[in-house]
Amino acid sequence: MHQDIAVRAADLALSVHAAPGRVLDVGCGTGYLLRLLARRCPQATELAGIDAAPSMIEAAEQAADDRRLRFAVGTAERLPYPDDAFDLVVSTTSFDHWSDQRAGLSECARVLAPGGHLMLADQFSSLLLPTLLAGRRGKARTPRRASQLLSAAGFRDLAWHDLYALIIKAATATASQ
Ligand SMILES: C[S@@+](CC[C@H](N)C(=O)[O-])C[C@H]1O[C@@H](n2cnc3c(N)ncnc32)[C@H](O)[C@@H]1O
Repeated sequence: MHQDIAVRAADLALSVHAAPGRVLDVGCGTGYLLRLLARRCPQATELAGIDAAPSMIEAAEQAADDRRLRFAVGTAERLPYPDDAFDLVVSTTSFDHWSDQRAGLSECARVLAPGGHLMLADQFSSLLLPTLLAGRRGKARTPRRASQLLSAAGFRDLAWHDLYALIIKAATATASQ
């Protein structure tokens, strides 16, 4: 399932930003999506992946098959990159795990160059509203709540896309000029 989502996420990300030079995957896991993007983006100079779990970064480094791939341990809430460092930021099925989604999206906006693009894929559905009553209170699990956070972080041109099954959706948005 994660590989199907990654293939669709790559298609979607490259439909909004066709030839990114510098790409970041936040919550990259084992780096599958970044390896796909590396194959499809010969012009890219840097494809960086960050994940909170050292074991994921270790696996991503072992599977890395392109010298432009770079992986680091770290969190969405405190990205260890300078301002305007990337043209495209992607994230798949990680957002729901972020302890502070507002801070994480602000960081995504900060590291994107003006006019750069975000592709954020996760479970987003009003069908998930009941789950917010239990363990995930406060998480943005609907397009409406996530849209509010994306706007507050300064993203514009927000669009929602069905990605996989009923509840995996993706937001695409542009970083403010
Ligand atoms: C379900 S996995 C998805 C991994 C990969 N993106 C994929 O689609 O296969 C969620 C990942 O998010 C990472 N993660 C959780 N909280 C995070 C945070 N605050 N910042 C960065 N990564 C985080 C986890 O360590 C895990 O690797």
